[in-house]
Amino acid sequence: MSDKVHYSDLGLENTRAMFAKAVDGGYAIPAYNFNNLEQLQAIIMACAETSSPVIVQVSKGARNYANSTMLRYMAMGAVKMVREMGSQIPICLHLDHGDTFELCKSCVDSGFSSVMIDGSHLPYDENVALTRQVVEYAHQHDVCVEGELGVLAGIEDEVQAEKSTYTQPEEVVDFVSKTGVDSLAISIGTSHGAYKFKIKPGEPPPTLRFDILKQVEKELPGFPIVLHGASSVVQEYVQLINRYGGKMEGAIGIPEDQLRKAAASAVCKINIDSDGRLAVTAKIREYLTNNPSEFDPRKYLGEARKELIKLVKHKNETVLGSAGKA
Ligand code: G3H
Ligand code: 13P
Ligand code: ZN
Repeated sequence: MSDKVHYSDLGLENTRAMFAKAVDGGYAIPAYNFNNLEQLQAIIMACAETSSPVIVQVSKGARNYANSTMLRYMAMGAVKMVREMGSQIPICLHLDHGDTFELCKSCVDSGFSSVMIDGSHLPYDENVALTRQVVEYAHQHDVCVEGELGVLAGIEDEVQAEKSTYTQPEEVVDFVSKTGVDSLAISIGTSHGAYKFKIKPGEPPPTLRFDILKQVEKELPGFPIVLHGASSVVQEYVQLINRYGGKMEGAIGIPEDQLRKAAASAVCKINIDSDGRLAVTAKIREYLTNNPSEFDPRKYLGEARKELIKLVKHKNETVLGSAGKA
């Protein structure tokens, strides 16, 4: 195999057909982040078992962690594994929060079927120019591109944003027509990480800005919208982490009913990373505390993988509505 590889040779699909079906069907495609073998196995197995289309995504940091050559074969292996299980679910390999043209190009060249170029922190015209440059290259290879307008609070692009800047609906038509993106990430009150809101114990988290989402949908009817920072920060895991030596006071996320409402509208890709991290960490902490003499990684990583399968099935079936849609 030469250094350059097209995603179709790895058995992957781009997001075009997936999103068209999701927009029509009123559900969202799950986009789960992964960094290692167990996470990828769990995501793929759970999506095969629930018959859900899936986007497996890696950040720049994850790509550096896993190695880009290793990733290519992991993705190819994941596709083969589910086909051997008898499942035909569509699988997309996506770059999450690409920050330069060069990184996006390198991902296109190494078998990704979709890339995000995140110029959301740049002045508008620079965001347009950078996004356009990525689209021109990616589309030559039939790779889909996600752009972003509006900034989410939390860590985005390795830049810590204190406050979110909501997407301005009056900009979206101009941005999409000038750049040619295939989907658009917007900011309506979600944020990255496990501490999404600063609220007093017992207080309900604020409601997402569905009014902005509605306006965006009106401006761009039928266009695929993406929601980042969409973990629910499952409290059962936060409690397990705290019980078994961790310290995650005040961790809180987006309530599931709000995500379901978003998935039923123009939102057709929902990004989930933190919930997966919490599940893995909770189970590893619990296992190692209860089995202090155990030192076989298969034991504690196996427990983590089992829990992640449970979590992904739950999300697909009851939050995103993607189960049975492959
Ligand atoms: O949006 C950010 C994702 O959760 C990836 O995080 O850069 O730590 O891999 P990371
Ligand atoms: P969470 O931190 O809410 O899981 O968001 C992940 C994300 O948006 C990845 O791009
Ligand atoms: Zn994100």
